[in-house]
Order: sequence, then C-alpha cells, then structure tokens
Amino acid sequence: LLLVWIVIACLVESASGGPAGELHRSQFPPSFLFGTATSSFQIEGAYLQGNKSLSNWDVFSHIPGKIEDGSNADVTDNHYNLFLEDVKLMKDLGVNAYRFSISWSRLLPKGRFGEVNPDGVEFYSQLIDALLERGITPFATLNHYDIPQLLEDRYGSWLSTEIQLDFAFFAETCFKEFGDRVRYWVTFNEPNVFIYDGYLIGTYPPSRCSEPFGNCTAGDSRLEPYVATHNLLLAHAAAVNIYRKKYQEKQGGMIGIVMSAPWYEPYSDTPADRLAAERVNAFNFAWFVDPLVFGDYPPEMRQVLGERLPIFTPEEKIKLAAKLDFIGINHYTVNYAMDCMFSPCPSPYSFGEAAVYFTGEKDGVYIGDPTAMSTFFVVPRGIKEMVMYTKKRYNNMPMFITENGYAQATASKEVLLNDTKRIEYQQSYLQSLSDAIREGADVRGYFVWSLLDNFEWLHGYLVRFGLYYVDFNTLERTPKLSALWYKDFLSGTGVSL
Ligand code: NOJ
Repeated sequence: LLLVWIVIACLVESASGGPAGELHRSQFPPSFLFGTATSSFQIEGAYLQGNKSLSNWDVFSHIPGKIEDGSNADVTDNHYNLFLEDVKLMKDLGVNAYRFSISWSRLLPKGRFGEVNPDGVEFYSQLIDALLERGITPFATLNHYDIPQLLEDRYGSWLSTEIQLDFAFFAETCFKEFGDRVRYWVTFNEPNVFIYDGYLIGTYPPSRCSEPFGNCTAGDSRLEPYVATHNLLLAHAAAVNIYRKKYQEKQGGMIGIVMSAPWYEPYSDTPADRLAAERVNAFNFAWFVDPLVFGDYPPEMRQVLGERLPIFTPEEKIKLAAKLDFIGINHYTVNYAMDCMFSPCPSPYSFGEAAVYFTGEKDGVYIGDPTAMSTFFVVPRGIKEMVMYTKKRYNNMPMFITENGYAQATASKEVLLNDTKRIEYQQSYLQSLSDAIREGADVRGYFVWSLLDNFEWLHGYLVRFGLYYVDFNTLERTPKLSALWYKDFLSGTGVSL
C-alpha cells in the first residue's frame, strides 16, 4: 500500500511541479516569458545627453514641492550610460525577456516637427542588440508616462487631436527602426493612471483638475479625462493600424496595451458594495480596454456619465475595434470598494466618477500586509482574480503580467538587501498566477517590477522596487536576496523559503 501511495504522490508532485506549496518553473509553459521591467524616465537619467529634449516629467519633477523627497530623475540609475552592465545583470538572473520603454523625447526631441535623433536610435539599437546577443527577448513600451514637453506647450498634448498624429509618427519611427528585432510592442503603459492623475486629480503632469476631485489652477475633471482618453485611444488605433498594414506580417510581432490593474473586492456583502466593486473595475480597466476590443466604452460608464463620455463615430468604432493582440496587466494589490452612489462615503472624493471609495482597511484590519506604497497590500489571490476577470470579459485574449513587484521603504543597505518579504510576495503571486493558468487563462509572460531600484514618480527615491539595490551616490548595483531567489527559480532548481 505504501508503495502505491509513493507512486501516486510522485505522479501528483511531478504534475504540479513540486511538493504542495513549493513553486517551480515547470508550473509555467516552457515558452513562457520571464523577465524584469523598467521604464526610460525612471532609470535612464542622462536627461540632457545625446540631443534629448525635455520631457513633461523632466519639467514637472523640477518644480519645487512636486516630488516627495525633492529629487528628480536627471541621473537616477544612469542606465543610459550603464546599460551594458544592466544587460549583464539580466543575463546573470537568467531571464529570457526584458520590458523597457523608449523615451519619446530622446527619439524625437521635437515630435513630428523635427528630425529623428540618431543618438536616440543608436542607444535603443545597441540596447536591443545587447539583449538579443544574450538570448533576452525585448518587450518594448512606446509610452510610459513621459512625452516631449514641446507637445504639451504647443497644443496641450492629450487634449488635442494632434497628439494622434504625433503618436502615430513616433510609433512608426519605432517600428521602422527597431521592428526587425522587437516582436512585442506596447503602445501605452497605464494610461488609466496618467490620465486619472494628470486630468482628474491633477497630481501628475499636466496637473489639470477641478473641485471636488483636486485643487488645480486649470482643468475640468468632469470633461478633460474623457477627452484625453478619447484622443489616446484613437492614437493607439492609429499606431496599430500602421503596424498591421505595413509591419506586422513582415516582422511577425504582437501589439497591445498595458493597464494598471488592481483588483477590487466589495467592502461588505451588500448589493450596493458588490455593484461598486464591479463598477470600479469597469471605470478603471474596461474604460480603455473595452473600446479597443469591442469598439465602445463600457456600458457601466455610459450609464453613469451619459453624454459626458464622448461618442465614437461609426468610422471610429470600426477603426478602434479589435486593436489588441494582447492585454498587459500591471498588478500589485487588492483594495476594498465601498459604494458612494447610494450612501455617503468617508472621503470627500471617491474613485473618479465611479462613486466608489476604496481602501485597504476594514474595522482596523488590513486586507493584506501593508507595503511602502500606501495603497499596495500583499494579497496574492488578486492576481488570479484579475486574470480571470480579464479572461472572462475579453474571451481569453492573450495576457502578460507586465508588472508585479514589492515596495520597500528606503532604509540601510543591509536591510534593503535582506528582502525576504519581496521573495514571499513574488513567490505567492506566482503561485496564484499558476492557478489561473491551470484554469485555462492564456497568460504568456511575467515581468518583475523592477530590475533596479529607481525613480518612483511622486515618491522619488523613497520607495524601492528593485531586485538589485542601487546606491544612488556611486550608482553601484548589488543583488538583493530576491535577485538570487529569482535566479534559482528561473534555473528550475525550485527554491522556496
Ligand atoms: C506602475 C508603473 O508602470 C511604474 O512606472 C511604477 O514604478 C510601478 N507601477 C510601481 O508603482
């Protein structure tokens, strides 16, 4: 009998990739992309080097009081000059993919009104070649928040239809210059974040908003987020149409979008809170994805916003529909959603206009362990929930987890290197993701945010996400414990804490 049990146990173990609870590389398909992610503004530095023009974030981060620690990204990781060293770090980790973004102001300092910058082309070409030489698949994002400031000054960036022309020109320049070697393209990273923060609450550039959502000197929170999104979606469609018509077949790649995708759970079991959780998922995620799949905004939004949500013309609907080959999911956390439509909320403003208040706390208890980001909690089930929601809503379209990572508050080097909490986080989220894959979700890759500690937007250098510690005085990179864990995991030796 014992022998039979051992045989069965061995079979179960090899089918699940290891003893219960242990995470193993074999729980994911062999072709799965495993990488790390970064973005140009957060790691490159060299903000005036190589004929780059100023981006909106260069200008914004230099305004006193905007960044929590008074810092900026003029130098940050100096990846522009140290990229070869960074590619070697990736090789050492054993990743087979790398997600990075292309700085628009480095490639086209004057947008479509000037020349392509040869220094910019050379930098990204060298980076891509260095990756390919080491067997690392480049996964390129065209826009990760930063745009040339000139486009803001000249016509008000996302509020103008002109941005569609500029973005299409930028995208085509990238397909032309790098598409022979890049097979994975992302048009936008987290447009739901930079539109919400830039035009609804006004905390990101161009700092536009109105009461009660935020306190800005210009803007209209009730209209501008929807106008900006409309232009952005049409800009995405224009870029994808160019790619499909002229490049895709020849270059054999895929193009998609990356969304910030926290999961929202009802605060209580009341029908109102359950509806609130559904509504906030639609307002946050489907706002951008529905139009690019189905050709129109989510019905949940139309119901609340009526005519303030722009209308797509029949031609635009055709131009928009089926404009994604994959959906990129940046997932970090779960929050509770509380209804504010039918009952008053504890906060003066709710999630945009969804009339939802979100929080990570209920009756003094957090939804999961808190992290250095005030709204990010450790709740591994969220990644599976978000993937299953996407699978269901978009008919199991191919998905990538384009970011997932753990925030540490800055501390001594010794403390930061010993990041066992990050290991537990990545491990438990991967475990939950593997459940979703086992249940049929077409997820094709996973990227840890981030390769290096870097400039964390409004928080400057106070929050660190890297697998590698960076000393911002010497720029020396040192592997944290989590880098060693990722390396072991990827090598297939299967380590758990
Ligand atoms: C999402 C953003 O894409 C990235 O730029 C940011 O650093 C991480 N989340 C962490 O907040």
